Amino acid sequence: MSETVRLRIDIVCAVPKTLDSVVTTSIVGRAREKGLVDIHVHNLHDYATDRFRHIDDTPYGGGAGMILECEPIFSCIEGLQAQRTYDDVIYLTPDGERLANARCVELSMRRNIILLAGHYKGVDQRVRDVLVTRELSIGDYVLTGGELAAAVLTDAIVRLVPGVLGDAESALDDSFMNGLLDAPHYTKPADFRGHRVPDILLSGNHARIRQWRHDQALTKTRERRPDLLSENDGQ
Ligand code: ADE
Repeated sequence: MSETVRLRIDIVCAVPKTLDSVVTTSIVGRAREKGLVDIHVHNLHDYATDRFRHIDDTPYGGGAGMILECEPIFSCIEGLQAQRTYDDVIYLTPDGERLANARCVELSMRRNIILLAGHYKGVDQRVRDVLVTRELSIGDYVLTGGELAAAVLTDAIVRLVPGVLGDAESALDDSFMNGLLDAPHYTKPADFRGHRVPDILLSGNHARIRQWRHDQALTKTRERRPDLLSENDGQ
């Protein structure tokens, strides 16, 4: 590890295997190797109190599905909180605030965060009342567990941590960063089976190319996501 760690993420979940490839490969894996981010995955089964490593039980009042119990979650998260101060304890749940870029930018500037992934029917409400500071959803659909949602959030945050993306990969002109969707991109060859790259991109006129990209982004946003234009007045 050469650089100072900017962000530590502790992911607390029931199925840690789901997160393996996300935290070890590609840009997130490289950010860890460079020492810019520190990611730890905690298995709730390790905090179970019985020898069968149970972490869930049936819901009071009846109904389908299992609920993750308080004890292992409190034990894991309080153990972490005893070691350092956390800026946020985020619970991933379909009834949380819908995740958007602005929230990712904000979270990428935190020092220590905990992500708690639910499983089965979710967690005992007392976990949410006492430990959780923020609840996020990655979209209006239900996953089998919050692990994939935690993976999505981790990926979306880590790439925004300063130093993680090189200049060439800069996040600044990604979709959403300026309130607009991204413009189309092309690479070689200039002519693929008769489908030509727009002449402007071959012109070398960088001012005109910038203007073209902006116009394309604006047109695409108007067509696909007019809600973004009314939110940001992105002209
Ligand atoms: N857990 C299950 N579905 C989810 C979603 N859509 N977002 C966040 N966490 C979830």
